Amino acid sequence: MKNVPTYGIIGYPLSHSLSPVMHNAAFEALGVEAIYKTFPLQDDEVEVFFENLRREDSPIFGLNVTVPYKEKVIPYLDTLAPFAKRAMAVNTVVISQDRKLTGYNTDGPGFLAHLTELKFDPRGKRVAILGAGGTTRAILTVLGLIPEKPEFIKIYNRTISTVEGLIRDLEQRVDMSNVEIVSSIEDLDIELADLLINTTSVGLNPRDPLLVPEEMLHSNLLVYDVIYNPAQTLLLKTAKKMGAKTANGLEMLFYQGVLAFQHWANVQLDADVKNKMRQSLREAIQNG
Ligand code: ATR
Repeated sequence: MKNVPTYGIIGYPLSHSLSPVMHNAAFEALGVEAIYKTFPLQDDEVEVFFENLRREDSPIFGLNVTVPYKEKVIPYLDTLAPFAKRAMAVNTVVISQDRKLTGYNTDGPGFLAHLTELKFDPRGKRVAILGAGGTTRAILTVLGLIPEKPEFIKIYNRTISTVEGLIRDLEQRVDMSNVEIVSSIEDLDIELADLLINTTSVGLNPRDPLLVPEEMLHSNLLVYDVIYNPAQTLLLKTAKKMGAKTANGLEMLFYQGVLAFQHWANVQLDADVKNKMRQSLREAIQNG
């Protein structure tokens, strides 16, 4: 049997991943015979999975990596692209014909691409962030590398040791001098901010509480919730009511996917293919 070139995502759990829909839509639009699958892996299966990628007969030529393995996969790679090296997190792996593995991170660039689409220029702006997981890692890295960085970035996380550990790690490779860890949501200075980003999972469940007091939200603010399902979290609904601009994480997911695909294919995707990827995501969410 002929092996179809295979791409996929590793992580756990993966049952809600929209990556297969988006990437299979791209293969179909391009008329390329390839398939994108989910590879839900337990922690103790990751090493063998990467060993098998080295085999000459492996059909796998590209991967996405998601929670909880974005850092864990790094020792199994041959090369890290510059941005992934700064973030020390990988969400995309390219496997060459001679089975060499290169790690990329398209989460940070995907976020920046979405801000650009929203016509929000983060240079010199005031930024408040809720959460200190993998998404914050990618966002901080990209905001730390742009010329003329934000005026300040204030971060609040439920577990202060997690955010302290994240900054201690990132500051070895990225300028974090404008980043301040705060110990309460009130200290985020959202009233003075231009951009509020939620990277926590609070809001995934429609019954989740609002983390930010309503009166802190205002009309000069862009509120960015990386959650995309539900499309309108309580945070985004409240922000809209208070006159703020809002965005959810669907376009960040889309852009990180486009950039990942372009690494695998080593070509730029044209607008038609990108629209089909975006449309496939929207339909998948609408159809539940
Ligand atoms: P991702 O890769 O999407 O960023 P993650 O690494 O699992 O996901 O990070 C989840 C973030 O949501 C963390 O900042 C987590 O806070 P803790 O470090 O305290 O765990 C935050 N989070 C999850 N549930 C939360 C809750 N109920 N209240 C506040 N923060 C929460």
